[in-house]
Amino acid sequence: MSTHLHGTQGAAGARGPTGAELQAGAGAALGRGAVVMGLQWGDEGKGKIVDLLADRFDAVVRYNGGANAGHTVTVGGERFALHLIPSGILRPGKPAVIGSGVVIDPEWLLKELEGLRVRGVDVSGLRISAAAHVVLPWHKDEDRLREGWLRASGVEAIGTTGRGIGPAYADKALRGTAVRVGDLLRPELLAQKLERTSALKGAILSALSGQAGAVRYDTAELHERAAGWGRALGPSVCDAGELVRGLLDRGGRVLFEGANATLLDVDHGTYPFVTSSTTIAAGAAVGAGVPMSALGSVVGVMKAYSTRVGGGVMRTELEGDDAEGAIAHGIRQRGREYGTTTGRPRRVGWLDLAAVRYSAGLSGVTSLAVMLLDVLEPLDTLRVCVGYRGAGAGGPAAGFVPDAWDLGGLEPEYRQIGGFGGAVGGARRLADLPAGARAYLDLIQEQVGVPIGAVSVGPERTQTIELW
Ligand code: GDP
Ligand code: IMO
Ligand code: MG
Repeated sequence: MSTHLHGTQGAAGARGPTGAELQAGAGAALGRGAVVMGLQWGDEGKGKIVDLLADRFDAVVRYNGGANAGHTVTVGGERFALHLIPSGILRPGKPAVIGSGVVIDPEWLLKELEGLRVRGVDVSGLRISAAAHVVLPWHKDEDRLREGWLRASGVEAIGTTGRGIGPAYADKALRGTAVRVGDLLRPELLAQKLERTSALKGAILSALSGQAGAVRYDTAELHERAAGWGRALGPSVCDAGELVRGLLDRGGRVLFEGANATLLDVDHGTYPFVTSSTTIAAGAAVGAGVPMSALGSVVGVMKAYSTRVGGGVMRTELEGDDAEGAIAHGIRQRGREYGTTTGRPRRVGWLDLAAVRYSAGLSGVTSLAVMLLDVLEPLDTLRVCVGYRGAGAGGPAAGFVPDAWDLGGLEPEYRQIGGFGGAVGGARRLADLPAGARAYLDLIQEQVGVPIGAVSVGPERTQTIELW
């Protein structure tokens, strides 16, 4: 494979693909089942790519995470922030499925649905897996209490979103105290589950808070609320796995939407500063309930630089009050790097290609979507991490190491290159990009060893160069 970017343009060649070729090209290259997932620490622009591709697929399925995700889609100047609802919802009538691998806070979901409805979005395509787990009030309380307990113990907190994600997945694994979406439709069983669980949660969380009896739950009130969620969501609840497998069996095409990202994966991320689900492409089979053979291609979404929200090591971080801090500030402003879910300012750093290479290998990424290229436009020089070295007297070269402790002991190895030398926001074909920007993309492709399928030069659906 040529690592030079122009080599990936296929039949369309250097003149740039026409609209018709793009459609056919993307369709053929991505296969019948395509996964879209993040290669860094989240917020890479997965929502934009899912929205862009959704019209070429028959359904979009979210396979992991919960309301910790915030996927932004911008269409015609209108900005939508999706947390639990698949980004495919903005394509009218398209089935948008929440798979069993997702943990659902019904209050959030209902709020999100209402927010879309009042803006005139057709939400009739929403389908919810009966096997997805429910985030209950005690999960959110436990999330906050555990973060506080870590801080009080003098340990760096994880910096969670506070959405109850970890405790909900923990209860899923524990089984006895879990509630699934299907249970919301069985009032008697629901009452039994809430009854026996609320007293236990009250006792455990009171102990965690350090004050006996401090945490109590009103079971009757919660049951009434939860039964209301069941009534409101009931018409959309289904066996999502069967629905999606049926679609695939009939020759349909399915897009799987990952939330969070590889370096936040519970097994393969920078543990313990991770989320609690399987974010990598393999998670799509489990969280959507489809065979692995259904996952024909994997689109790895990456920013042209690095960002991270919450705690944990990030070796290419730009920080301080000096020139580096000023670069980070500029990137944060241009890229609107404030959390979609929590509003927290995102930490900013140089692109870590060693990390992206690691992530792409884990998921068998078949094409890259390089996002937010326009944000780097004003910089005269750029640095990119291409590998790591042992700390101290220039130890042996190494790749990215996900273990947070070990990674802290390595030094990034940088390559410095010139700036883009021109504007990129208006580019719609590779040929429209200045030479410096194309060189940056070539470096990404060469270092990661995966062809670039899309380059994003602005938040709008139309601000995309497609090379699939
Ligand atoms: P996700 O969680 O991976 O879906 O990403 P987020 O939506 O949390 O964060 C990505 C942010 O970048 C959003 O505000 C998008 O609107 C924005 N965005 C996506 N692509 C581009 C791009 O190419 N350029 C710019 N300037 N913004 C982009
Ligand atoms: P999207 O889908 C960025 C981070 C949190 C925290 C850690 C654990 O928008 O890319 P959690 O609440 O999941 O227990 O938090 O994971 N995190 C994300 N960061 N984007 C996300 O999702 C994230 N989902 C979780 O900031 O550091
Ligand atoms: Mg996000």
